[in-house]
Amino acid sequence: MSKLITSGRTAIYPGTFDPVTYGHVDVAKRAAELFDRVTICVAVNTTKTPLFSGKERVGMIEEAVKGIENIGVEEFEGLLVDYALKKKANAIVRGLRAVSDFEYEFQMALTNRKLCKNIDTVFLMPHEKYTYLNSTIVREIARFGGDVSEFVPEHVKIKLTDKFRDAKPEDGRKQPR
Ligand code: COA
Repeated sequence: MSKLITSGRTAIYPGTFDPVTYGHVDVAKRAAELFDRVTICVAVNTTKTPLFSGKERVGMIEEAVKGIENIGVEEFEGLLVDYALKKKANAIVRGLRAVSDFEYEFQMALTNRKLCKNIDTVFLMPHEKYTYLNSTIVREIARFGGDVSEFVPEHVKIKLTDKFRDAKPEDGRKQPR
């Protein structure tokens, strides 16, 4: 596919990615077609309490986008616009899955533009088969032993299984007969 934007364009794709899903990968791939360089940046100081450490989340994303040469992955903390300036990014990429995402994304995009007028937010729609997906749902399914193969790459599924196996409480509950 040919590039739609002239050379030298850099984008950052921020999020919590706890864990990365096929929906995120879909957005990242679309961004990689539009920009010369895309850095997926993993927020480590959000108000969320992630299941996976920043390092684990970066590792899972790196594996998921392996082979796409213009995508890099790293952690970030602090204000997103400061990070964007440091990376000399022209744009922030965000996925827009449904109307319900709009208000929050609109607020965040305008706030970021207020903080730094040179950085715009570009919204990309993942494939419709991923519109209902988020990381909380994936964690919830995995926590109760459900199959997440359709939502995350195999290596993420294994990490989820390991995480919840390690975290299983020794609560002495009786097994059903
Ligand atoms: N496929 C699947 N799920 C998707 C998705 C896609 N394409 N796009 C978004 N989601 C899900 C995410 O998994 C996440 O799910 P969760 O809430 O269950 O974890 C949810 O939609 C949205 O979260 P995410 O995309 O991770 O963004 P976020 O809202 O957690 O992170 C930051 C927002 C990190 C970008 C923002 O808080 C930030 O910029 N922080 C830095 C501080 C700052 O500058 N603040 C001012 C910003 S105005």
